[in-house]
Amino acid sequence: MAKTIDARNLTRIFGDTTAVDNISFSVGEGEIFGLLGPNGAGKTTTIRMLCCLISPTSGSAIIEDYDTTDREGAMNIRRMIGLVPDNVGLYETLSAYDNLEFFGKMYELQDRQRRENIEKYLKLVDLWDKRDRAIGSFSKGMKQKVAIVRALIHDPKVLLMDEPTVNLDPEAAKGIRDLILRLRKDGRTVLINTHNLDEAQRICDRIGVLKTKLIAVDTPQNLERAISGTQAVVVLEEVNDDILSAIKAVNLKDIKRDGNKLIIDVSDPEKETPVIINAIVSAGGKVISANRIGASLEEVYLKLVRE
Ligand SMILES: Nc1ncnc2c1ncn2[C@@H]1O[C@H](COP(=O)(O)OP(=O)(O)OP(=O)(O)O)[C@@H](O)[C@H]1O
Ligand SMILES: [Mg+2]
Repeated sequence: MAKTIDARNLTRIFGDTTAVDNISFSVGEGEIFGLLGPNGAGKTTTIRMLCCLISPTSGSAIIEDYDTTDREGAMNIRRMIGLVPDNVGLYETLSAYDNLEFFGKMYELQDRQRRENIEKYLKLVDLWDKRDRAIGSFSKGMKQKVAIVRALIHDPKVLLMDEPTVNLDPEAAKGIRDLILRLRKDGRTVLINTHNLDEAQRICDRIGVLKTKLIAVDTPQNLERAISGTQAVVVLEEVNDDILSAIKAVNLKDIKRDGNKLIIDVSDPEKETPVIINAIVSAGGKVISANRIGASLEEVYLKLVRE
């Protein structure tokens, strides 16, 4: 997969605080990458370095073919990316529409394209009817939606979003998540900062757990798997010795029995569970249900950031 974002040993020090310590990661074209980390982990600082709002103390990042630490590269990057900043950064006295007109013009969009996009995206976030109201009179969530529209106005190939669903009600947050998934379908690349584990798990192809240093980078599934073993929980109509020996013949690990429920340790649930079920059925067992339990992303995350 072509790399769209390539962060190389990015470090940022503020006075005596190291905000971001030597992090390297890449995001492929059409990928949704989540930076997950506690308050003060350096998520916003990372995004600000990627969009050239601040320069790294050392290291650099390449976005498409441009270098963030190069003057001309930085100009191209600013023009090319869409940014949802952590503070909405809109003009309070201007209307929603005029804010978007202003930013659309800054990106040198053709008049027609600009107006079409403003209308399309304001309708998408349900604010078209309120377009003429001053941003200062908007609620936090409404401002956040306008900030998201502003990031999309020039149809950027790369989106950097700092907690895009913060302040949004569950329905609006889902709308934005669906929108992000649709952007991926169009081949756009999205880097999103979030503390919201559920959100990260739902939309991110890969997650980087950040706590000043990058602690782990992987798919949500692999992160869950890496941290603790998984168990298959199989409920049978009846458990007997034949069934237990049949399972032991295909799975050497521990089996716990609780009435008609079996809790079986598995290391690779996708591969091993069907084999176990097969063995049970061949031994004449009747399976009522089969589930998997293991560490949730939340447990994994808490373990990683506490260590
Ligand atoms: N302009 C600045 N001057 C001094 N210190 C800063 C500055 N910006 C960030 N920091 C420090 O860098 C560290 C990382 O901050 P950052 O805002 O990147 O964290 P974050 O992961 O975005 O946190 P949050 O989840 O609260 O948004 C913090 O210790 C913060 O105090
Ligand atoms: Mg932040």
